[in-house]
Amino acid sequence: MRLAGNRLASPVGCCAAQRSGSWSPHPSWSSPERRARGQPPLVVGRLALVTGGNRGLGLEVCRRLAREGLSVLLGARDPALGAAAARGLARDGLTVRPEAVDVSRDDSVEALADRLRRAGERVEVLVNDAGVYPAADLLAPGGEAAVREALEVNFWGALRTCRAFLPAMVAAGYGRVVNVSSGSGAFSDGLPGPSPYAISKAALNALTVKLAEEARGDVKVNAACPGWIATRMGGPGAPRTVEQGADGIVWLATLPAGGPTGGFFRDRRPIAW
Ligand SMILES: NC(=O)c1ccc[n+]([C@@H]2O[C@H](COP(=O)([O-])OP(=O)(O)OC[C@H]3O[C@@H](n4cnc5c(N)ncnc54)[C@H](OP(=O)(O)O)[C@@H]3O)[C@@H](O)[C@H]2O)c1
Repeated sequence: MRLAGNRLASPVGCCAAQRSGSWSPHPSWSSPERRARGQPPLVVGRLALVTGGNRGLGLEVCRRLAREGLSVLLGARDPALGAAAARGLARDGLTVRPEAVDVSRDDSVEALADRLRRAGERVEVLVNDAGVYPAADLLAPGGEAAVREALEVNFWGALRTCRAFLPAMVAAGYGRVVNVSSGSGAFSDGLPGPSPYAISKAALNALTVKLAEEARGDVKVNAACPGWIATRMGGPGAPRTVEQGADGIVWLATLPAGGPTGGFFRDRRPIAW
């Protein structure tokens, strides 16, 4: 599937209601002025990349962003899983484009950036959702490997994609980055949960603050905690749905110019680091 500039060549990324004219703007990113003028929100047609988009929260974020009218690249480390996830969304009337990306590998992230550059496409919204949950005591056998694995995906993965896509956002003066973090990374809460995971999410939170400092123009970098969500990672007993978890992530991904940057949020509200 080809993208024409930052717009999908077909009415891709538009929900059926939007195409039929009954669609109304999402209140979080439609400024009152644009609403009053009957103009579509500024995020419509923007190009979004969601890592870990083939299942769980990432898949729901892809679905929601596509419904909101963004052009969505569904990032998946396994191309077959990415294609299957995109086919699932197509059955719901949503077109997203799967892209292979393993955030733990420099060459994979660089190859994606290269493909997009050659196609003249620029990522404007980046959701760093890909994550792993290694659990081991730090001093036990396997403790070091678990920390390395957690950092490689949850911290370095986000830094890799930000280094690949954020400079172009700054150059263009627009960008939204959402780092999908966790309350496990909150010092204010005692870094609950397995040490490797908590350490990696605390590092991701620190990365969020420092990247937001470096960003210029209308480029926002925020961290989101989705809460405890029923996914493969969260387990079937988790009390919240992917829809509930994705809401705050999509809100940050589609913030208007006056929105916050450098913050940590759950359910659209700031939480303590
Ligand atoms: N579920 C919760 O309760 C909860 C709570 C707080 C924060 N979070 C965060 O939310 C995010 C999504 O979690 P989830 O609950 O949706 O988990 P999930 O269902 O386990 O999904 C994790 C996703 O990350 C992908 N992934 C893992 N390593 C990757 C890599 N190296 N490169 C690219 N993709 C990779 C997985 O791909 P494969 O299918 O190929 O494995 C999968 O798509 C994570 O960052 C997680 O830490 C979740």
